[in-house]
Amino acid sequence: MTLEGAFTTFVNAYPAYGRTRSIDDLRAREYRRLDETGHVYLDYTGGGQYAEQQIQAHIALLREHVFGNPHSLNPASQSMTHLVEQTRGAILEFFGASPDEYAAIFTPNATGALKLVGEAYPFGPGDHYLLTFDNHNSVNGIREFARAKGAEFTYVPLLLPEMRVDQDYLDRALLRARPGGRNLFAYPAQSNFSGVQHPLEWIEWAHDRGWDVVLDAAAFVPTNRLDLGRWKPDFVPVSFYKMFGYPTGVGCLLARRDALARLRRPWFAGGTVTVASVRGDRYYLAEGEAAFEDGTPNYLAIPAVDIGLRHLAGVGLEPIHERVRCLAGWLIGELLAMHHGTRAPLIRLYGPSGMDHRGGTITMNFYDPQGRFFDHRLIEREANAVKISLRTGCFCNPGGGEVALGLDRAELVACFNQPQTRLTLDDFQLCIDGKSSGAVRVSLGLASNFADVYRFAEFARGFIDQGVPERSTWSSRA
Ligand SMILES: Cc1ncc(COP(=O)(O)O)c(C=O)c1O
Repeated sequence: MTLEGAFTTFVNAYPAYGRTRSIDDLRAREYRRLDETGHVYLDYTGGGQYAEQQIQAHIALLREHVFGNPHSLNPASQSMTHLVEQTRGAILEFFGASPDEYAAIFTPNATGALKLVGEAYPFGPGDHYLLTFDNHNSVNGIREFARAKGAEFTYVPLLLPEMRVDQDYLDRALLRARPGGRNLFAYPAQSNFSGVQHPLEWIEWAHDRGWDVVLDAAAFVPTNRLDLGRWKPDFVPVSFYKMFGYPTGVGCLLARRDALARLRRPWFAGGTVTVASVRGDRYYLAEGEAAFEDGTPNYLAIPAVDIGLRHLAGVGLEPIHERVRCLAGWLIGELLAMHHGTRAPLIRLYGPSGMDHRGGTITMNFYDPQGRFFDHRLIEREANAVKISLRTGCFCNPGGGEVALGLDRAELVACFNQPQTRLTLDDFQLCIDGKSSGAVRVSLGLASNFADVYRFAEFARGFIDQGVPERSTWSSRA
């Protein structure tokens, strides 16, 4: 079917898309580089796209003012301090967080925010870190802080095919908080692997059972509203480039002030102390957010966050959410309907096939008529050749990948116990021969349009009735 024909069918099936047409005008104006360069950008969970006006506004600001390092009292410094604090306020307001209840701490990215929590959480022997299999590595990594301090960690399993959490297991695990101890529960509001949106109701359930909660919102907030007036997680990491593309290098930890007061920073640094002495061998940490911002913040980039938030608010999260829901729903339907002449399905989808409690991150593998998988790296190579930017591998979410791809513990331990000390991805693929070591992910966001998903659907259709080629014909490393 032609693009026009497919679009007519699409808008009949998803009439709500019509209410988001202002985003088409925005795309033509502010994101025209996508169409001018013939690019199909499908990696919004990796990083968002910026509007031209964001860049122009930021450059104008830098061009017209004299700014200095915010940590002092001269006029250049004070102008900067004013903008940094204004941006902090704008972040809290965007998330509906009261400044009395939440602090916004600038970090380099969501990972930096998670590390602040992990290294300072007062785990002790017998304490507990509970986390879902479905988590980014920057959340998984906190287990090493827990382990080093003698705390236990427990993973809550996922159930196939939807890759949602085993609710009974979670209910039982939440009842095992150590009374009077330190118990930390971490999960993503939206999976960066499957697109599943895990319930925000868990925050309160966990609190009622004695847990502090890390809600990893990095993949959720670009296309969904997180209202911290309603939901009260203790710690929320975000990366701003995922929300509006620019700037990179600035993230934030939104932290409840009472939870922040329970953290114990393992060191002090420039910017985090009121007084530190070499001869006196003492230091006093600053109060609140200042105690967590190590050294000079990325101060010239921080005002671009305020600009980005205003841009996102101007477009409106609700139309963005609705648009992504329509496009993802259509694309999933198309992909699942694709079959070879043998009737074997082309695609295996990892995650929900409906749009209920899921976002616009769609992960899959391609199979040939004989049921053999196409190496995800081959799919990526073919996509690159037609200017489709997608992502392959496990997306730093190994738990999600292992569940989706059916890689069991014994198999993985055997691979890790091989004689060589470091496994490359190629070694890993050979070791788990017969199963894919990764998957193909496409993800939608603010500037996505129907032509993007249509072009990916047509790209996928090109694999119908194709056999998996010999590795030597496509891989230079075969
Ligand atoms: C769910 C989730 N959490 C955390 C991160 C880490 O973000 P960053 O690499 O910006 O620190 C990502 C990045 O993809 C993510 O998708």
